[in-house]
Amino acid sequence: MQPRPPFSLLFLLFLLTAAVTTTTTAHNITRILASHPDFSTFNHYLTTTHLAAEINSRTTITVCAIDNAAMSELLSKHLSIYTIKNILSLHVLLDYFGAKKLHQITNGTALAATMFQATGTAPGSSGFVNITDLKGGKVGFGVEDNGGSLGSLFVKSLEEKPYNISVIQISKVLSSDVAEAPAPGPSELNITGIMSAHGCKQFADALLANAEAAKTYEESVQGGLTVFCPLDDPFKAFLPKFKNFTMANKTAFLEFLAVPIYQSISMLKSNNGLMNTLATDGDRKFDFTVQNDGQEVTLKTKINTVKITGTLIDEQPVAIYTTDKVLLPNELSKAAPTPAPAPAPEKAADSPKAPKKKGGKTDAPASDSYSPADSPADDAADQTADENAGVMVGGARFLSIGLSLCLGVLLL
Ligand SMILES: *[C@@H]1O[C@H](CO)[C@@H](O)[C@H](O)[C@H]1NC(C)=O
Ligand SMILES: *[C@@H]1O[C@H](CO)[C@@H](O)[C@H](O)[C@H]1NC(C)=O
Ligand SMILES: *[C@@H]1O[C@H](CO)[C@@H](O)[C@H](O)[C@H]1NC(C)=O
Ligand SMILES: *[C@@H]1O[C@H](CO)[C@@H](O)[C@H](O)[C@H]1NC(C)=O
Ligand SMILES: *[C@@H]1O[C@H](CO)[C@@H](O)[C@H](O)[C@H]1NC(C)=O
Ligand SMILES: *[C@@H]1O[C@H](CO)[C@@H](O)[C@H](O)[C@H]1NC(C)=O
Ligand SMILES: *[C@@H]1O[C@H](CO)[C@@H](O)[C@H](O)[C@H]1NC(C)=O
Repeated sequence: MQPRPPFSLLFLLFLLTAAVTTTTTAHNITRILASHPDFSTFNHYLTTTHLAAEINSRTTITVCAIDNAAMSELLSKHLSIYTIKNILSLHVLLDYFGAKKLHQITNGTALAATMFQATGTAPGSSGFVNITDLKGGKVGFGVEDNGGSLGSLFVKSLEEKPYNISVIQISKVLSSDVAEAPAPGPSELNITGIMSAHGCKQFADALLANAEAAKTYEESVQGGLTVFCPLDDPFKAFLPKFKNFTMANKTAFLEFLAVPIYQSISMLKSNNGLMNTLATDGDRKFDFTVQNDGQEVTLKTKINTVKITGTLIDEQPVAIYTTDKVLLPNELSKAAPTPAPAPAPEKAADSPKAPKKKGGKTDAPASDSYSPADSPADDAADQTADENAGVMVGGARFLSIGLSLCLGVLLL
C-alpha cells in the first residue's frame, strides 16, 4: 500500500485549523435557542441587547429562558430596549444550575448572582435571584428585592453542557422595580463624562473645549458612534503639538478619532480594512486602517500605529475604546504638505466621495506597505512601549503566519 502524503497532510492541516478556530467560543446561545422555536422572541432580544455575546464569552452560567407567550407580557409594557436589557440580564445566572442541581439545592434555598448585578447598575442585592426548592418537587425563582415572591417556576431543561452553560425554561419573567427603572438611552449618555472617569480626561477636555467637534460627536450618537480615545499620558505628551494646530485642524483631529458607526470589538476584528471617520470630507480622507494583530486590534495610518487597550463602554449604538498612543492622521503630518502629491490617481480608481458623516468601512487596501520614509513627528506618540505585549503579539503573528501557510497549501 502506498501512503498518500497529500491527504494526510491536508488532514493534519485541517486538524490544526479546526483546533485554532474552535477555541474561540465554547457555546453559542443564539444557536442553542434557535432549535427551540417557542423561544424565538427571547432569543431575538438577547441578540438586539448584545447579551448574547456576553453569554457566549462566559462559562459556568445558566440562562433562564422564557417562552414567547411570557415574553409578550413583558413587551406589552413598552419598555425601552435598555430597560429590557436590564431585565433580561437578570435571567443570566453566573453559576451552573442543571435540572438535577436545582432539585438538590443545599438547605433548599440559594441566592444566585446575575449578569444584572455584574453590570454594576444594580444597587444592593437587587441583582440576585433567589432559587428555592418548594413542595411537590417545584423550584421557585424570584428577584431578591421583590418582597420574597417566588412567582416564576422551573419548567424544563432545554440544554445542558456541564459546567459551561445550562439553558432552562422558567414560567415567568423575573423582574424588579430596580431593573424596570428607566435606563438611560444613548442620547443621555455623557460620553465625555465616561472618558474623564476612565483615564481619558485629557482627550475629553480637548473635546469639551471644541464646540464644533463636540457637536459632531453628539449628533452622531443616535446613528452609531465609535471613539478611539488616547489614554491620558500619551495625550498629555501630544498636547503641545495639538495646541499648535489651527482651530480647523484641531477640529479635524478630534473628529478623526471617531467613526460614525457602532463597532464592537468582534466587529472590528472581523472587519479589517479602511475606515472613514467623522473628519472624512470628500478629498480630505482622514481615514485609517483597522488591522488585527493576534488577539489585539490595531489602527494605523502612514504616520503611526496604535493598539486598542480597553473598552470604556460598548452598548449599541455607542462604543468607546482606549488606545495606547495618539493615532496621527496622514493629513496633519509635517511630511504631507497641504497639496499632497500622491492621492490623485488612487482617488479616481477606488474611493467614492465620502461625504461628511457618511463614513464607514470600505474594502481593505490590497497592500499595507507604508513606506517608513514618510513617518516623521512621532516622538510624542511612541513612548508607551509594552514589552510583554510585544512578545505576545510576536507569538500571535507567528501563529497567523502559520495559518496563512496552511490556507495557502489548502488552496494549492
Ligand atoms: C451564533 O449562531 C448564530 C446562528 O447560527 C450565528 O448567526 C452567529 O454568527 C453565531 N455567533 C458566533 C459568535 O459564532
Ligand atoms: C445550611 O444550613 C446550615 C445550618 O443552618 C448552615 O450551617 C450551612 O452554612 C448552610 N449551608 C448553605 C450552603 O447555606
Ligand atoms: C429566598 O426566599 C424565600 C422566600 O421569601 C426565603 O424564605 C429564603 O430565605 C430566601 N433565600 C435566601 C437564600 O435568601
Ligand atoms: C466547555 O468549554 C470548553 C472550552 O471552554 C470545551 O473544551 C468543552 O468541550 C465544553 N464542554 C461542553 C460540555 O460543551
Ligand atoms: C458629563 O460629565 C462631566 C464629568 O463628569 C460633567 O462635568 C458634565 O457636567 C456632564 N455633562 C452632562 C450633560 O451631564
Ligand atoms: C509650534 O509652532 C511654532 C511656530 O510655528 C514652532 O516654533 C514650535 O516648534 C511648535 N511647537 C510644537 C510643539 O510643535
Ligand atoms: C493645519 O492647517 C493649515 C491650514 O489649513 C495647514 O497649512 C497645515 O499644514 C495644517 N497642519 C498642521 C499640523 O497644522
